[in-house]
Amino acid sequence: MLILLRCYYYLLISTTNMGCQVKFYKYVFALVIYININTIILGHSFHRNDQLIRRIKRSSFCPANTQCVPVSSCSYFTNLLDNNCVLKNRVGELGCGEPGLVCCPQVSQANTILPGKIIDGLRCGFSQVQGDGYEGIGAFPWVARIGYRNLLNGEIKYPCTGSIISSKIILTAAHCALAKADNFKLYIVRVGEWNSNTEIDCGLEFCGLPTQDVSISHVVVHPGYEKNTYRHNIALIVLKSALNFTVTTQPICLPESWSVTSNNAFLVGWGKAAGQTYTPSKQQVLQLPIIGLQQCVQVYGRTLPISDEQICAGGESGNDACSGFGGAPLIVKHGNTNYQVGILSFGSDQCGSRGVPSVYTDVKKYSRWIRENTPKIYN
Ligand SMILES: *[C@@H]1O[C@H](CO)[C@@H](O)[C@H](O)[C@H]1NC(C)=O
Repeated sequence: MLILLRCYYYLLISTTNMGCQVKFYKYVFALVIYININTIILGHSFHRNDQLIRRIKRSSFCPANTQCVPVSSCSYFTNLLDNNCVLKNRVGELGCGEPGLVCCPQVSQANTILPGKIIDGLRCGFSQVQGDGYEGIGAFPWVARIGYRNLLNGEIKYPCTGSIISSKIILTAAHCALAKADNFKLYIVRVGEWNSNTEIDCGLEFCGLPTQDVSISHVVVHPGYEKNTYRHNIALIVLKSALNFTVTTQPICLPESWSVTSNNAFLVGWGKAAGQTYTPSKQQVLQLPIIGLQQCVQVYGRTLPISDEQICAGGESGNDACSGFGGAPLIVKHGNTNYQVGILSFGSDQCGSRGVPSVYTDVKKYSRWIRENTPKIYN
C-alpha cells in the first residue's frame, strides 16, 4: 500500500477596496491507498484507466468546497484575472494538476454563508488570509493590543487585549480599560501585530505591514461594572484617530439577532497559555470548547456570582488561557465570517486544569449597550 502525502499551496490574490491582497491557502492532501484506486479500475482498458486515475487525482487536489474546473468557467477566478490580480501565465501553477484547471470555490456554498455587515467600508469578520488550520499573519486581523505606560520611566507594556469593532472603537473588558496600579496608565492601542519581536512580521508566504499605534480619546466603561465580582466586565476604547484597515487590521463582527452557536471557539491574544513558562511574542490562538454555564457556577459560584450575562469556555486539561489574555476576544466562525461572542473576563490560577474553565462576558447580551455607545457603526 502506497501512501502519498502532498503539500500543495494555493495562492489567490483577491481584490478588495484595499487593493489586491494576497490570499493564501495551504492544504495538505493525502492521496491515500493508491493501489486501491488501481484495483477499482482494473476492468477498463489501459488508456481509460489512465484518464480515470487522473480524474481521481485531480479531484483530490482540490480543498473542500472547491471543484477542479477550467479557469474560464470559474467566475471567481476570471474576476481576479480581469483585475490583474493574478498573472495569466501563473494560472497554471495555481491549478489542480493540469494547465487551465483551477480549484474553484463553489458558488452555492458561498451563498449559504451569511456575510458580515459592512463596517466603515469593509465586511466585518472576513479574513483576507485563509486556509485550513492556518493561524499565521493575517488569520486573525481583528485583535488589538492595549498598551499602558509607566509614568515614571515611560516603559510601555501590553497586558491586555481587545478587538477592533470599527475603525475607531476597540472592545475590551472593563478591567482592561481602567487605569492600572503601579504607576501604569492606559496609553495606546496597537493593531496589525502578530509577532511583537519583529518590526514587520513575515511568514513563509508573505509579509504583513507595520503595526499601527493609535492614541486613545476616552474610554466608555459599563456603568454597572463591579470590579470585585467582574459583573458587566465590558468597555469600549474610543480612539483619537481612525485605524486604516489593511490585510492585518480589520473589524470583527458582533453577534447578530440570530443565534451564533458553536461548541468550538477561538481565543486570540498574546498571553501565556497553560504550560507556557514565558509570555510568547507571537500571537496565540487557543481553540476552546464553549461549555454550559453551570460548570462555571460549580467552579466559581461560591466566591463569585455567575450570571447568564457570561459565557463559560475551556476546562480541558492543558488547554486554556493563563495570564495576559484579559479582554481578549472569544471568536466563533460561521461559514467564513468570524463573530466575537465573548470577552475574556477572569479565570483561575489553576488554569489549564481539567474541569477549570474561564469566564467570559457574553457579548450578545451587551449588543444594545455597545450599539448605544457606538452609534456611528449602526446608525
Ligand atoms: C492611516 O493612513 C493615513 C494616510 O496614509 C496616515 O496619515 C495615518 O497616519 C494612518 N493612520 C494610522 C493609525 O496609522
